[in-house]
Amino acid sequence: MTTFIDPSREIGRIDPKLHGQFIEFLGECIDEGLWVGEDSQIENEQGYRKGTLDALRALEPPLLRWPGGCYADTYHWRDGVGPRSERKTTFNENFATYELDDHSFGTDEFLRLCEMLGAEPWININMLSGTVAEMKEWMEYCNREQPTDVALERARNGHESPYGVKYWGIGNEVWAGGGTMTPSTYMDEYRRFASAMPKFTTDVFAPSPMYAIACGPDGNKPREREAWTQDFFRALAEYRQPPINGYDLHFYNWNVDNDADTPTEFDEAGWNTVIDGCLELEDILRDQWRLMQDGLALIHEPEVAMDTKLDHVDLIIGEWGNWHKTAFFARPALRQQVTMRDAVTTALTLDLLQRNCDKVSMACNAQTINVLNSLVLTEGGATILTPNYDVFMMYKAHRDAVALDVPRQDAADESVYTFASKSQDGKELLVNLTNAHMNSAAEITVVIPAAARVEEATVLAAADPHDCNTEERSDLVRARTVPVADMVKATAAGSGTELVVSLTPASVNTL
Ligand code: AHR
Repeated sequence: MTTFIDPSREIGRIDPKLHGQFIEFLGECIDEGLWVGEDSQIENEQGYRKGTLDALRALEPPLLRWPGGCYADTYHWRDGVGPRSERKTTFNENFATYELDDHSFGTDEFLRLCEMLGAEPWININMLSGTVAEMKEWMEYCNREQPTDVALERARNGHESPYGVKYWGIGNEVWAGGGTMTPSTYMDEYRRFASAMPKFTTDVFAPSPMYAIACGPDGNKPREREAWTQDFFRALAEYRQPPINGYDLHFYNWNVDNDADTPTEFDEAGWNTVIDGCLELEDILRDQWRLMQDGLALIHEPEVAMDTKLDHVDLIIGEWGNWHKTAFFARPALRQQVTMRDAVTTALTLDLLQRNCDKVSMACNAQTINVLNSLVLTEGGATILTPNYDVFMMYKAHRDAVALDVPRQDAADESVYTFASKSQDGKELLVNLTNAHMNSAAEITVVIPAAARVEEATVLAAADPHDCNTEERSDLVRARTVPVADMVKATAAGSGTELVVSLTPASVNTL
């Protein structure tokens, strides 16, 4: 197989927010995984678990979504602000978490974390059991510059200046746990909430810095997802448009049909099911993007008589990741181990998001710590980085780069996937090569421009694709920089430089 890396085939800029993360009050994602409290025996920095915090500092996630997920629909932000000793205690039933919630990690703890990491916060409001007034006051607490009561309360709680939270999700999975709504019921609710958002400007003509995200479809349901988007945009076109900037589709790579399959025990068929499953997202997001354009076109039909007509809404994938069957019964809730099978699908998902950067603006891996497609697992005092963490680290250089369209020829071997980007100044190329074969090595030819030279090679692979990192063997599966000659077996000059690259089975590689 031959792959051509041609820097002139530009797709567009890779928004760093395609590398977003999602954290929720679910299982041990936040409590224990991220937040242990200042009095904990576990090493911490102002209550944030040190191991997790250090890992996230190195990762620099550009976007962090919180507090859910489903949990957002039971979350009352006031329970989690002010002196910790006075905060409420509630019971967390979310996905069978079944734990008391002392609300010691609340809005200020979340937003301070985002500041430490340089991440853009995305807050999902409580649309199901909360009120418009509650949402408005939360926004005021986060963003009001003028010295109102609620802004002064924020200052008393330690943050005088506004946090400037831009991204606000209005409803979560409203077709299921978020209210089992129809698109038109949701549209009515959405209009009430979104149109009540404060604008945070004192110039009536200036655009608001607030960014409203509407709930998109269940990406896992083929007929429903199509009908949802058509009906949603039809309802949107029916009357004046409320503020709407983003449309949030969720897609999980469900692996629930094979009883014998667990996150760490699988055969080649189980491996292939999961690899193929993650790739479905590419067609889904392209179809959805097309449906959105059709929906927006309805607004511009002559019989729709409105002064101002919306002409753009961003497509967002607010939750994605592998969801293995055992996660349903796991304790802590939704926890699953991570092997090279998950690392390969994480790489392929990032590839397809980046390749569609002209259609998708933001995306969040679900979830960052101890839940589903984790980057970090914690076990008592131990903090373990999973192979997924290494994939995200290997892909960091794609952020803000220009995605390239990579054609391939003689694709006899369909299981080797390539993605490439070039830096904004055009001086560097980053090429990923993922060998999605569970057991076979692969060799491919990569043609790079004649003037280019390979400076660095990194490999993420395991001796056995079932291997995973545990407390006892926390570095069993780690990305390694290798001598270029270990990966590039031969170089020949033609119209470009032809590299013969050899890839170990079940591996994620970058050049
Ligand atoms: O990520 C776990 C859950 O999956 C989220 O709470 C919900 O939005 C989705 O169904």
